[in-house]
Amino acid sequence: MRVSVVGESDLGWDERTPPNETVDANGKPSPMAPGFGVPDPSAPACRRYDDPAVVALRAHLKAHNGIDGLEICAPDEVTRIARILRRDGFVVVRDLLNPDQLERWRAGCARVLRQILEIPGRDGRAYVTETQRLPHRYSFGTCSASRHLLHEPEWADMVDLPTTTPILEAVFGSRDYLLWGAGGDLCLPGAVEYQHLHSDLVDSQEIGPGRLAQARQLGMDVPDRPEDLDVPTARLILERTPPQITINFLMSDLTWENGPIRQIAGTHASVQRPPSPGYEPDWMKTSTLVGALAGAGVFRDTRAWHGATPNLSREVRAMPNIEYTPVWNEPQVRRSMPYERWLALPEHGRHVARAAVCEAGVWPAGAGFMHPLLSERQKAADG
Ligand SMILES: [Fe+2]
Repeated sequence: MRVSVVGESDLGWDERTPPNETVDANGKPSPMAPGFGVPDPSAPACRRYDDPAVVALRAHLKAHNGIDGLEICAPDEVTRIARILRRDGFVVVRDLLNPDQLERWRAGCARVLRQILEIPGRDGRAYVTETQRLPHRYSFGTCSASRHLLHEPEWADMVDLPTTTPILEAVFGSRDYLLWGAGGDLCLPGAVEYQHLHSDLVDSQEIGPGRLAQARQLGMDVPDRPEDLDVPTARLILERTPPQITINFLMSDLTWENGPIRQIAGTHASVQRPPSPGYEPDWMKTSTLVGALAGAGVFRDTRAWHGATPNLSREVRAMPNIEYTPVWNEPQVRRSMPYERWLALPEHGRHVARAAVCEAGVWPAGAGFMHPLLSERQKAADG
């Protein structure tokens, strides 16, 4: 099987995989428990490149897809980047990867994706759908039995880059932040459904001493004790101290056709839930990052509403990521980076990755085993 995450490919468009079909931990269709694979009621009824409903959706996307006036920053525009991220909950930064890094990571994504796609599908389907996700969409992170890909050299080597580290320092207000994990997502050509709008995590909305200290490091005028906060200041702190920042790196240009991520600006501190698929207005469905080019990255406050969109092209859309968290969130970090990988990092990278590294001689449980099905991953992780 030839697998590439850039350019035209024969992958995907498996007509024998019905739209919106989700599977359980063992790979059995599970229409009553779709989990994260929330059905898209507007999806074409047939997963075929030239199906009339697909052709109509393609025409609609060609005319309307993409945020009008999307701002794209250069990596050295650190102040502007931090300002846009605080305001919108996401920001696109071009040229984060040099050509060598981009080529290397493309090859790494293709290698890992091949492990997923070579597993034979059920009842004539071309692929195994990931447990409780929509068809033709995979998470690099959750398909790994160790939950992250910090054991893969291409992911580990991107933790501390000259282009990203100054931005992360500005966003966290300090050089002292933490690596959370690494993974990312991808969709095959023929992922015709919209993934539902969601946040990646729920903010506790609590401001303890650690979060207050971060606000101070960000230059905010805050009282000494959390109980002395007034409501506007508390809200501002919640907006400016995301529990997690992810950088999704683009392996291909995002086009109107190949499943560009959609982001809803200004939703990162929203407590209410995003609209479910049947209620999502078209302006949200087309609020996508069309025009961001390969080698760029999207810095995301993972609370901001976002979702994947239909990939009606012939190209895989892959966005591996590296995830970070402020130090006050350290108890949530899981150890999944092998010690040898950690040792190979630059000094600052080792500092940032200190909560994610395993002890010397300990291989993270399940690392190296990729499978779309939860039951198989559990078996591998349990050894
Ligand atoms: Fe997400």
